[in-house]
Amino acid sequence: MPADFDTIVTLAKKRGFVFPSSEIYGGLRSAYDYGPLGVAMLRNIKDQWWRSMVTMRDDIVGLDSAVIQSPRVWEASGHVASFTDPLVECTNCHARHRLDKLDDPDRCPTCGKSGTFTEPKQFNLMFRTHMGPVEGAGNLVYLRPETAQGIFINFENVRRTSRMKLPFGIAQIGKAFRNEITPGQFVFRTREFEQMEMEYFCRPEEADDWYRTWQEERYRWYLDLGMRVDNLRLRAHEADELSHYSSGTADIEYRFPWGWDELEGIANRTDFDLRAHAAATGKDLMYFDQETGERFYPYVIEPAAGATRTTFAFLIDAYHEEEVDGETRTVLRLDPRLSPIKVAVLPLSKKDELIAVVDRIAAELRPRWDVEVDITQAIGRRYRRQDEVGTPFCVTVDFDSLEDGQVTVRHRDTMAQDRIPIDEVVGYLSPRLAAPSSLSLPTGSSPSPSGGVASK
Ligand code: GAP
Repeated sequence: MPADFDTIVTLAKKRGFVFPSSEIYGGLRSAYDYGPLGVAMLRNIKDQWWRSMVTMRDDIVGLDSAVIQSPRVWEASGHVASFTDPLVECTNCHARHRLDKLDDPDRCPTCGKSGTFTEPKQFNLMFRTHMGPVEGAGNLVYLRPETAQGIFINFENVRRTSRMKLPFGIAQIGKAFRNEITPGQFVFRTREFEQMEMEYFCRPEEADDWYRTWQEERYRWYLDLGMRVDNLRLRAHEADELSHYSSGTADIEYRFPWGWDELEGIANRTDFDLRAHAAATGKDLMYFDQETGERFYPYVIEPAAGATRTTFAFLIDAYHEEEVDGETRTVLRLDPRLSPIKVAVLPLSKKDELIAVVDRIAAELRPRWDVEVDITQAIGRRYRRQDEVGTPFCVTVDFDSLEDGQVTVRHRDTMAQDRIPIDEVVGYLSPRLAAPSSLSLPTGSSPSPSGGVASK
C-alpha cells in the first residue's frame, strides 16, 4: 500500500522537515522551506548524487553556474518560444488550469462546471525580472528554468580548462524556477525547486548507447539508496510528450500516493543546444578530435533529477507503520546515508553523571556524523521520536554504564539492542553507517531496469 499523502505531509511539517514558505504570512503556495531535518536530508541526497556523478568518476566534472544569465541564452535555447504549458481559464469561476494535467479536459475541477473553458493559450513558464535600477525591455532577464543551459554555455570553458576528452560529463546542482500554472502535491511541483542535472557529451554515433546506459545507471542509483523496486519504473515518452530539444526521453517514475509520476528525466538532447548557442553567438562550440582530426558537435545525454522531489519520494518510500506491543510504531526506514540524524545519544535519566558520559560520547561522534542528544521524556518515547525521523542508531547510557563502561546500541529497523564498550562505539557504527561496499561504485554491471519499464 502506498503511504498516505496527508500522513507524510503532516509528519514532514510536524517534525521539521518542510515548512510552507512565508507561513506566518499565510503561505505563498509556490515554495517551501526546509527545516533542520529536511535540510540535512536534502543535503544528503545531493551529496549522494554528487558522489556518484562526480567524486567516484573520472569522466564527469562539476560546475556551479549563475541563476541569472544573458536573456539571449533563453532565446537561443528555445525556452522563450517553446517552454510553455497549455493554460485554460474557467469563464464561470475564473480558475486557471493546466489543460494537459486535467482528468477531464472539458470540466473545471474548481467549480465542477463543464464547457466553461476558454481556448487554450500557451503560457511561458519562465519567471521574468529586471536587472539593475531601470525597468524596461532592455533590462529583462529570466530566472533559469533549468540548470542545464549554464552547462552548455560553459561547455568550451570546461573542456579547455579541464582538458576533458569525449565522452565526458558536466554536473550541476542548483535552484531552478518555473512559474507553474498549478503548483501542488506539496513539494512535488513548486515554483522554486532544486535540480541535479548532468550533461554527458559524446560522439553522435554513441548517443543511443549512452542513452541506455544512463537510464540504467540512474535507475540503479535510487535502488542502491534503498528505494523499493515496486515503486520505481522507467517509462519512455510518447512523441507528443517530448521537449522541444529532445529526440528521446525516458522518465524514471515513482509510485506517489496519487499514482505514477516523474522523478527524473533522461533525455537525448542531440546537438540541439550546442548548435543553438554557436549559431546565436558565432562562437565555435564544435569538438575537435585530435586522434581522428574530425570536428563535430557532440551529442548530449542528460539525466535531469529534482533534488527536492527526490527527497519527498524517499520520505514516502521510507515511511512505515507497524504494531509493537499494542501500539503503532512509525518508522522511517531510510538508508543511513540519507538519514538526517545518524546517531542519537540518550541518557536513561537526567542525572549529571549520565549527562557527562553522553556529552563525552556525543563529542566523539560529532566530527563524523550528525548527532542528536535527547534528554527529555521516557526512553521508549525518545526511541519512537528517533524512529519517526529515521535515525538508524540510538546509543543509550544507563547507570550500569558508569560501572562497566558499556552502552546499549539500539537498531532502528529491528529494535535489536547490543551492549558494547564505550570506546568501541565509533568502530561499531562506522561500517554500519557507511555505503555498502558493493553499492559504492557507480559503474559496472547494472541490474536491468527492464522489469520496471512501462509504456504509457
Ligand atoms: N534540463 C531538463 C529538465 O529540466 P525536466 O524534466 O523539466 O527536465 C527535471 O526537469 C527534473 O526537475 C524533473 O524530473 C523533476 O524532478 C524536477 N522538476 C521539474 N519541475 C519541477 C517543479 N515544478 N517542482 C519540483 N521539481 C521539478
